[in-house]
Amino acid sequence: PYTGRMIVTIDGVAASGKSSVASGVARALGIPYVSSGLLYRAATLLGQEAGLDLNMTAPLLACLREHPLRLEPLAAGNRVWLGQRDLTPDLHSSAVDRGVSVVAAQPGVRTWVDDQLRALTPPFVAEGRDMGTNVFPQAPAKFYLTASPRVRAERRSRERPEDVAAIEAALIQRDALDTTQSAPAPDARVIDTGPLTLEQVITVITQQLPAP
Ligand code: DC
Repeated sequence: PYTGRMIVTIDGVAASGKSSVASGVARALGIPYVSSGLLYRAATLLGQEAGLDLNMTAPLLACLREHPLRLEPLAAGNRVWLGQRDLTPDLHSSAVDRGVSVVAAQPGVRTWVDDQLRALTPPFVAEGRDMGTNVFPQAPAKFYLTASPRVRAERRSRERPEDVAAIEAALIQRDALDTTQSAPAPDARVIDTGPLTLEQVITVITQQLPAP
């Protein structure tokens, strides 16, 4: 396993394959990966279960203080715990999908997520929208994944049997909502994953990493 205190950041647009790539890179290096999106999703679920107005930052942050969440950054797949309860199976529901953009748009919530992430001990692969720009600007290895809306919609439609055109339209809408958080760091290597397989993207990244 990789023994340095390296942080690799992998950011990119929705459905660009970030979490599969981050998990694969982490496994190749024998280090954990960290899914920041899962923390935004967990905050959203907590707020929804508490019946909160997701537009209001203060009650949501109070709820998060009262019910501390714990991210378990396993290489095989991240889990989020609320005490003994594993929230992970509930974090990709369509209700959470719908609520998370509003939650992730709030600076107070972003600070809460950033604090959780910065408390983790490297080495790890951090995956999200702003890992290389805001959370770990000092990271020595940064990547940014893109793919056209059509390519991303086609990949998604293999996971869920939905109309490709409808998925593509929803992705374009999500891109617009997420743009403030999602831009490559000036020192990130941008990879168009369109023509590449998952294994090829993982190889491109691992070959570029500085030695430990
Ligand atoms: O990657 P994901 O689909 O699990 O992310 C869920 C939501 O959280 C998505 O709307 C983008 C947002 N997000 C963010 O704003 N910043 C991050 N670092 C990660 C995710």
